[in-house]
Amino acid sequence: MTATKYVREQPTEAEAPTSAPKPQEQRAAVSRRGLLGAAGAGLAGLAAGAAGGFALGRDQTTSSPQASDTPTYPFYGAHQAGILTPVQDRLHFAAFDLITDSGEELVQLLKDWTAAAARMTQGLGAGELGPTSGPYAAPPDDTGEAIGLPAAGLTITFGFGPNLFRKEGKDRFRVASRQPDALQRLPHFPADKLNPQRSDGDLCVQACADDPQVAVHAVRNLARIAFGRAAIRWSQLGFGRTSSTSTSQATPRNLMGFKDGTMNLKAEEPAAVEEHVWVPADADSKGQWLAGGSYLVARRINMTIETWDRQPLSKQERVIGRTKAEGAPLSGGAEFSQPDSSLQGSDGEPLVATDAHVRMVHPSNNGGAKMLRRGYNFVDGSDGLGRTDAGLFFLAYVRDPRTHYIPIQTKLGQGDGLSEYVQHTGSALFAIPPGIAQGQYVGQALFA
Ligand code: HEM
Repeated sequence: MTATKYVREQPTEAEAPTSAPKPQEQRAAVSRRGLLGAAGAGLAGLAAGAAGGFALGRDQTTSSPQASDTPTYPFYGAHQAGILTPVQDRLHFAAFDLITDSGEELVQLLKDWTAAAARMTQGLGAGELGPTSGPYAAPPDDTGEAIGLPAAGLTITFGFGPNLFRKEGKDRFRVASRQPDALQRLPHFPADKLNPQRSDGDLCVQACADDPQVAVHAVRNLARIAFGRAAIRWSQLGFGRTSSTSTSQATPRNLMGFKDGTMNLKAEEPAAVEEHVWVPADADSKGQWLAGGSYLVARRINMTIETWDRQPLSKQERVIGRTKAEGAPLSGGAEFSQPDSSLQGSDGEPLVATDAHVRMVHPSNNGGAKMLRRGYNFVDGSDGLGRTDAGLFFLAYVRDPRTHYIPIQTKLGQGDGLSEYVQHTGSALFAIPPGIAQGQYVGQALFA
């Protein structure tokens, strides 16, 4: 995999690699810090450093061109990275519950997370000292499994759930008056089979990277840093992105074997992104801190894979409304052609069935609403009865879930041909604060 495949020709403001240190600079910085860390750690630290051959930082061994060829995205910018960024191959998503009632501790946690995320996304360790150079008598400030790995396109995106603002009627952190009207627990949709242990959360972290170990390392270190203040409520690993967010990316396939992401919003359509993804400044007087941010809908959608695999190809294509091979609408054309709902076959039936997925979700049938999908395939083993616990971890960024998600999902739950083969088992909604400048912390506008 080459860097040119991923690096956009015209990076967006949030992603332009202006502030990102070059790989050589990163390595030098790590080495210097590592040496200082060892010097400050006393004899025991020096002994450990010597024994480990100065295993100083994450990028220590990334001298091979292949390793340093992977992209590095800036952490700071007008919008958080990980939304418009070309979708990476791997995901580790985690929802956290706060276990403190102290506003100061919450703010400190966000500051600590900001510092660690800013480092890790640049290919550095989570802490200043590194995995093996801190005091010998203390736990390291980085867990170490990413030593030698490059940034691998890591982005870390943070969000706030409705319960952060008000939980069981309590205004725990004195921000209830700033809860946007749109930030409410998602309603129970028809056919939902939600597991509460895979739903909701006060905070979320979406870590995406082209190396699964890098994504897992990021979430693990943020969870470690949160100790005593927030704990993981649920998490989800994902592989094989199920959408493309850039025209430079080929359309991938979901576990039903169909191309997914063809009609997704793309970074190269700034006007449409502005209209459908970013929260406008005048959206809500209580939620002004969210201007330039977004809402993230997360749904764990299980597929009844074994049943699906026994369906004839004709039925599979009818359910989706597109061909399996090319992803073209059944009404004709090629992958990127728009479906034509008016065309009928010789049997008098519409070529794209009225309950076909792509017909039901098409913007023309949903008041023009579009979303930026950024989901991943998942396989979490099997259920003990020989059924694969697999599906689509659906992630979508929208400017307002009340217009851009809830009505569409309500309709899908009632009449989507696909609903015979899927079951929604997890659900959460998060407000995604806008991006920040260096020196600020994630979500600062909410607490200012
Ligand atoms: C396991 C569940 C799902 C599967 C397998 C699936 C699959 C697909 C496929 C194959 C396409 C056509 C290719 C494309 O344009 O991306 C598509 C399009 C789309 N899907 Fe889904 N989808 C699922 C769930 C959902 C959900 C829950 C929503 C939102 C409520 C949704 C919204 C959309 C939208 C907005 C489009 C693009 C429609 C257009 O503009 O033409 N999908 N989906």
